[in-house]
Amino acid sequence: MRKKIVAGNWKMHGSRQQVSELAEGIRNEAGSFPQVEIVVLPSFVFIPDVAKILQNSHVRWGAQDLYMGRSGAFTGEVSGPMLTDYGCLYVLVGHSERRHIFHEDLDLIAAKFKAAIDARIIPILCVGETQQQREAGQTEAIIKQQLASVIESASIVDFHHAVIAYEPVWAIGTGLTASPEQAQEVHGFIRKQIANYDIDVAKGLRILYGGSVKPDNAKGLFAKPDIDGGLIGGASLQVESFLGICAGCKSDTFVE
Ligand code: PGA
Repeated sequence: MRKKIVAGNWKMHGSRQQVSELAEGIRNEAGSFPQVEIVVLPSFVFIPDVAKILQNSHVRWGAQDLYMGRSGAFTGEVSGPMLTDYGCLYVLVGHSERRHIFHEDLDLIAAKFKAAIDARIIPILCVGETQQQREAGQTEAIIKQQLASVIESASIVDFHHAVIAYEPVWAIGTGLTASPEQAQEVHGFIRKQIANYDIDVAKGLRILYGGSVKPDNAKGLFAKPDIDGGLIGGASLQVESFLGICAGCKSDTFVE
């Protein structure tokens, strides 16, 4: 059985007060969604406040990035053990904004994935194609490469403790969403790729969809057999819309 996840990627948004109010609002209503694992991913500086607000609640928290060193002379970076210190359970790895704006390459992303596993934080590995790659018919090849580079440097059993997010780059922050059928096709492909290495890992793996998920399209996406929840950007910044998306998760996905 795969419990659905709805994770809010708050990116570089909000003030200390706004983020605290958002965390409180979500915490106060989270009990109404026992079928969903609710996760929020604030900016590093807000993690201590958010951790205090969410401790002893149903809501989990994590970070949007980490560096692969455990400690040392890496000015400006944050390590996995530092995140563990603040109770982070999840961390995004390889978000398309990191890949494209900050030029993170396949090797760096693979190293960050391993660093998260070593720090006992669950990496949410983001994969996805650009519009140009989709139009050129390269979607599967790109995703296969993004997955393979991580699987080959980590071990497939590490994916027992990982989550994948499929986020087509053309759907992030654009208002364009993949249709449930388009998304399911790629999610099915991802699960098949993982199954080529290990069938049990593939069956238990939660694969989230991300890219302009809103309360009105969440239900259709989450009803698909290989879509185990969502990674939400813009719509996670308001309590009402974020919880509206959580309401789109009916129940766990039963695995045969
Ligand atoms: P969006 O962002 O929901 O605003 O499209 C998703 C993401 O970047 O994780």
